[in-house]
Amino acid sequence: MENIPQSRRTFLATIALLVASATMLRRFLTPRTKPQRKVVVSVARADIPPLGALVYRESRVALMQANGEIYALSLVCTHLGCTLNVTSEKLSCPCHGSEFDRQGKVLKGPADRPLKRLSVEQRDGMVEVVEA
Ligand code: FES
Repeated sequence: MENIPQSRRTFLATIALLVASATMLRRFLTPRTKPQRKVVVSVARADIPPLGALVYRESRVALMQANGEIYALSLVCTHLGCTLNVTSEKLSCPCHGSEFDRQGKVLKGPADRPLKRLSVEQRDGMVEVVEA
């Protein structure tokens, strides 16, 4: 049998080639997953009051309309996560008293971050709040 000379460089190159091949094979064999689109709330556009809000406490979402724009705010307080109460002027937290305006900006602490805006999609007269 022939004696094949092995050097450290050859060994490392072989290992690198094996790792690269395994990585490419894994990418090829792993199915691509589309991010799941989850509809949190679905409502007819006509049901959204022009200066009011539709509040879904179970989903912790408020669907608002201002100046013809429809948007959705999370009702999860950015301080420690309590569910906010919605009035005609503001959103307030019953836990520690934070207040937010109808756009989700902080009016009063201890919360220091605005409310999360959720993605809204409109089609065929329906408005859907979706979670990506
Ligand atoms: S959880 Fe809302 S102010 Fe603390």
